[in-house]
Amino acid sequence: MIKYALLFLFALTFCSLQAQVFKLTPKQEADINALIEKMTLDEKIGQLNLFTSDWDVTGPTLRAGYRDDVKAGKVGAIFNAHTAKYNRDLQRVAVEETRLGIPLLFGYDVIHGYRTIFPIPLAEASSWDTVMVQEAARIAARESSAAGLHWTFAPMVDVARDPRWGRVMEGSGEDVNLGSAMARARVRGFQGTDLADEATILACAKHFAAYGAAKAGRDYHTVDISDRVLRETYLPPFKAAMDAGAGTFMTSFNEVDGMPASGSRYLLTDILRKEWGYDGFVVTDYTSINEMVKHGVVANERQAAKLSIEAGVDMDMQGATFYDHMSALVTTGKVELKVVDQAVKRILRAKAALGLFEDPYRYSDEKRQKRYVLAPEHRTAAREAAGKSMVLLRNDKNILPLTTDKKVALVGPLAESQYDMIGAWHADGQGKEAISPLTGLKTVFPSLQHVSAADFKLDGTAKYLDNARIDAAVDAAKLADVIIACVGEKADMSGEAASRTMLELPGRQLELLRKLKATGKPLIVIVFTGRPLVLGEVAGLSDAMLLAWWPGTEAGNAIADVLTGEVNPSARLPMTFPRSLGQVPIHYDMKNTGRPMDADNKYSSKYLDGKNTPLYAFGYGLGYSKITYASPKVSKTTFSENENITFSISLQNNGDYKQRETVQFYYRDPIALRTRPVLQLLTWRQVDLAPGQVASVSITVKADDLTYLGPDGKTPTLESGRIELFAGPASDKLQKVEVNFNKTSN
Ligand code: GLC
Repeated sequence: MIKYALLFLFALTFCSLQAQVFKLTPKQEADINALIEKMTLDEKIGQLNLFTSDWDVTGPTLRAGYRDDVKAGKVGAIFNAHTAKYNRDLQRVAVEETRLGIPLLFGYDVIHGYRTIFPIPLAEASSWDTVMVQEAARIAARESSAAGLHWTFAPMVDVARDPRWGRVMEGSGEDVNLGSAMARARVRGFQGTDLADEATILACAKHFAAYGAAKAGRDYHTVDISDRVLRETYLPPFKAAMDAGAGTFMTSFNEVDGMPASGSRYLLTDILRKEWGYDGFVVTDYTSINEMVKHGVVANERQAAKLSIEAGVDMDMQGATFYDHMSALVTTGKVELKVVDQAVKRILRAKAALGLFEDPYRYSDEKRQKRYVLAPEHRTAAREAAGKSMVLLRNDKNILPLTTDKKVALVGPLAESQYDMIGAWHADGQGKEAISPLTGLKTVFPSLQHVSAADFKLDGTAKYLDNARIDAAVDAAKLADVIIACVGEKADMSGEAASRTMLELPGRQLELLRKLKATGKPLIVIVFTGRPLVLGEVAGLSDAMLLAWWPGTEAGNAIADVLTGEVNPSARLPMTFPRSLGQVPIHYDMKNTGRPMDADNKYSSKYLDGKNTPLYAFGYGLGYSKITYASPKVSKTTFSENENITFSISLQNNGDYKQRETVQFYYRDPIALRTRPVLQLLTWRQVDLAPGQVASVSITVKADDLTYLGPDGKTPTLESGRIELFAGPASDKLQKVEVNFNKTSN
């Protein structure tokens, strides 16, 4: 037994030492140490400051005084500055006009594309296609690295289960496993295998941690979760990002256990550095150090600066608290110099890993910028990604796909929008370069009639769709073979600082749909949104309903591909769609409780005025073909921690279209020392089936995949007992097989 314990200890030590995100040469390490020796305290503090540039109609500008600060070596990084020329000029000031010539780091929110905008991350996650998602990130890195950028503030890896929170659009939805897989894919896409490569950029796992658990879905609100929930639900995607090599982390605005993340030694040192062995650098979110005064854990910004750097923060985004106070804190002995040196070293190691000391201008290349930004092949990739991200929620009587001879009436307030199609957080994406649904659909339906609708106001006020326009849409519908209605939110109704108390379609869109339905013509509804909405009545009015999310620059073309069957929709929901707001938060992996829902028992966990089940479940989505599943099989019904089980299922394409099917595998541990969810996603396999084709997919299940955090809240645990395995096309369409786990070691 002792032998195993020693082995485990060695492995733990070895692994923690190996969490080196920046693989530098001994010379690079020596050069950094020598540079730090030469730096004055002010120059060291300068590396810890990240300031934003501004942007006016002529492009990026620098706030008054910043250029002087750069010249004085008081700035380590700039964000929101981009284009090869602008960043090269600014880099020249840092490299040629400062005493030590330390290059600047240029960061930007390249969340789902730099100029060629891909579907929003929640849409990309709907594809369940990590290869596609990684490629999208690689393209974003290729474009942004040509435009002077070294660092993206992405991937956002916050698990999110409350659609009132507008930032669900930026993540990968409600599931830990899907979120972790997307985190790995995006980090690998951005960073590639060599950060010094001119086409790769530094990633940033954000927002550390548990930002998605904001109370009531209200952005920046309090997070109050147990350490168990923190570790089982919110931390794993960050660990996945770290294991994939993410070079930086960003702290979140929220508190965890009474301490704002930017001041949390528990998060930033105990977990990130000591438990995980992380050696990248940590940047705060925008002025989140300053905000600790408002949180009420410090009296002033000087105390905030001390609290954050000693907790484990390395770089202050836009707060200027290190800029203003760190020199005094160190010279008066309130903060030890070695704490500053440690932060400086982490940042300089990142710059070295990017190759900036060898060639500080490598990433500001106007020739590459011209060649790669918005390159045709990138638009093609964005169109393909959009087609893989749209979820077909309803298709009564297989009304879709449509033949192109159909007389289409295209209506609704989003039919002609370009700007909305690129969604929130669209970096340098330009609305005018986006393909609207109107433009895309006109190319495939020659007789399409479009009835314009006024853009509706941000607050979705009823007046946005006036009576005249509703009547005109109905009149056009009466003359058509089929109606296509483009409805949803405005793009800036999701994203940061965009929480909503209502999840219905804003304004008079439902009224429009009711009147269109009353014409008796087939009604195809395309829903544009950055979050799950309450779509029960919309579904009832639709013959077909396609969830397009925000599809990006190639929106209209991808929609045309899907509606004509050029692309067979294969996406599956990464987030549950509730029947009503009252169900929120609702997610597939809830606990059973001691009184699980029982329709015949009043005293069971349910509502008087609604069902417990969602409108659309996690993992749900339709395609144009009908896929049937056989019964799942296991290679053995008992296993120990040294054995694996092969878990497989066959499926057949009984339709007329080639179909990509995402076969989902789940499990349940019904009896454990702590309560466990009724269902947890294990993994999934994607298989392309030709009409008539039968395929079998299988996975290997081992005990390590099924563990939970035991009574101590930290040790991965699995006791002997029954394990339920599930397979199928969605979390609410599964078949079960039972197996037994027999633990041999104690
Ligand atoms: C914002 C966001 C963060 C972003 C940063 C820089 O407030 O919270 O995700 O990366 O500021 O724009």
